[in-house]
Amino acid sequence: MVLDKEIEKKVVDQADIKTIIKRLGKEVSKDYYDKYPILVGLLKGCMPFMGDFIKVLDFHLELGFMDVSSYHGGVQSHIDVRIEKDLSMPVRDRHILIVEDIVDSGRTLHAVIELLKQRGAKSVQVCTLLDKPSGRKIPYSPAYIGKEIPNLFVVGYGLDYQERFRNLPYVGVLKPEVYSEEDRILTNQSDT
Ligand code: IMP
Ligand code: MG
Repeated sequence: MVLDKEIEKKVVDQADIKTIIKRLGKEVSKDYYDKYPILVGLLKGCMPFMGDFIKVLDFHLELGFMDVSSYHGGVQSHIDVRIEKDLSMPVRDRHILIVEDIVDSGRTLHAVIELLKQRGAKSVQVCTLLDKPSGRKIPYSPAYIGKEIPNLFVVGYGLDYQERFRNLPYVGVLKPEVYSEEDRILTNQSDT
């Protein structure tokens, strides 16, 4: 009840998440059952989603993780993210399915996809729990999308605000008073 009190409204509740994961599991299983892919989770946001998602996948796969942080603003070079933690295995000739919490501008994915292709991956696709297509700066459409949401800042089920709220079991919008003064202004602006 501690975190609940700071949430204004739920955007994707626990039942929705369960339904979404079941559907994504079917779609991905149909395409990957004979491909022995590496599922690459983007830390830290992927954690709850990936944990639940792999349990509905009944085929052989490997798990890998990367932690990347996007640089916002500045020059939009083709790789504008910093790799904090890299994969521990080669991807050459392997099918890769990136598991992401949310796609917003598309910058993070663009950079990671380019990198994995450069390293010789046979294919690179994306499975994201949430998609905010209206936030896109680089055109990209993930192959597997749990749910499209409007241009809102959401937390929970892996998604954070200043590293908090990742452990909330659903996805929601924060009450305005939870934000710092500076962020409150930014959030209001992005609503308009
Ligand atoms: P992109 O490079 O702008 O697509 O950034 C995607 C990353 O930004 C996600 O993996 C999240 O970590 C973060 N992000 C984007 N939108 C939200 C949000 O609404 N809440 C929390 N984190 C977000
Ligand atoms: Mg993320």
